[in-house]
Amino acid sequence: MFKINENYQKLPGSYLFSTIAKKVSAFTQANPDKDIIRLGIGDVTQPLAPAVIEAMHKAVDEMGNAETFHGYAPDLGYEFLRNAIAENDYKSRGCEIAPDEIFVSDGAKSDSANIQEIFSQDNRIAVCDPVYPVYVDSNVMSGRTGVYDAKTETWSDVIYMPCTMENGFVPEFPKETPDMIYLCLPNNPTGTTITKAQLQEWVDYANRSGAVIIYDGAYEAYISEKDVAHSIYECEGARTCAIELKSFSKNAGFTGVRLGYTVVPKELKCGDVSLHGMWARRHGTKFNGAPYIVQRAGEAVYSPEGKAQLKEQVAYYMKNASVIKAGLKDAGYTAFGGVNAPYIWLKTPDKMTSWEFFDYLLEKANVVGTPGSGFGPSGEGYFRLTAFGSYENTLAAIERVKKL
Ligand code: MLT
Repeated sequence: MFKINENYQKLPGSYLFSTIAKKVSAFTQANPDKDIIRLGIGDVTQPLAPAVIEAMHKAVDEMGNAETFHGYAPDLGYEFLRNAIAENDYKSRGCEIAPDEIFVSDGAKSDSANIQEIFSQDNRIAVCDPVYPVYVDSNVMSGRTGVYDAKTETWSDVIYMPCTMENGFVPEFPKETPDMIYLCLPNNPTGTTITKAQLQEWVDYANRSGAVIIYDGAYEAYISEKDVAHSIYECEGARTCAIELKSFSKNAGFTGVRLGYTVVPKELKCGDVSLHGMWARRHGTKFNGAPYIVQRAGEAVYSPEGKAQLKEQVAYYMKNASVIKAGLKDAGYTAFGGVNAPYIWLKTPDKMTSWEFFDYLLEKANVVGTPGSGFGPSGEGYFRLTAFGSYENTLAAIERVKKL
């Protein structure tokens, strides 16, 4: 008789955004006349930039012609894309990342879930609390998190680093020494971030304690403040302790296109074993590359037209962020984020729990958000709104919230 991976049985409930989708779908069925505005999952709403569409059309035509047809992509991704990434995301910022340290993938969600595979089962992970659920769930699936305590909603073998109003949403070095540290900056879900100097302290801490940092930079394009690093490799010493995950979903609207990349520097080693070699082995065995058409679309993100068009797109979403934050403040809410990230993190009113506020907002304003407790115990009493809606819907949602 076959056996299953019992670790899956330990996962409490369903994936956060699936739970929300089910709840909203039940509400819509019961109230078909209600006009729901969705500011829950961080999914983009603006069409792909013209430069991206043009590149995709061209690549589609190439695929229809025997001379220019492309089959399997090279293991690490096409050089034209890796060169563009190395030049624009790293060299231009003074970071030393070679094209062959970049692994092109189908997005940061899968990379952030898969990267734990190359690490020992015995490693202790540390996560910010609240946290993007994929980091913890993927470690649960691999049996690294110990026993779940339903009362505290925590895992016995996970080190939680609370990020709350009280500490300005800045994680503090944990008392126990972790082996793997997940950092998402600018942060999902709180929409807040830390300065480059604070990030440097994390890099120094990791190098000192022999830990690896899994650095999720999916929201980097939304940074507006000068003292915030766009890449962890802007910090001295990061090449020996950090893996960086990047996404095209939020900076270029590729949530439905799927493209991302992971950087594993060659100096990152455990003894004399190179993590670069391990990730290359895993990538080569388990992944057959993002599609050629999509990688050409990714290349267009770095063209002068692409850059200009996407700057406007990011500004469009950040205008929504300002509307949400200002509207919430007018309505008497305490709200954070929305300056270097497209998320606004608000304190629920009248001591409501995050899920109580979710139901209240859905029923009374027909607005969908994300309950903070879905991201971890320290998210209880908070609620996330995304700036990725259309401007019109964002305005309408905030007007409804103000009238509550
Ligand atoms: C979110 O809403 O947190 C994100 O959009 C989910 C994701 O990127 O997978």
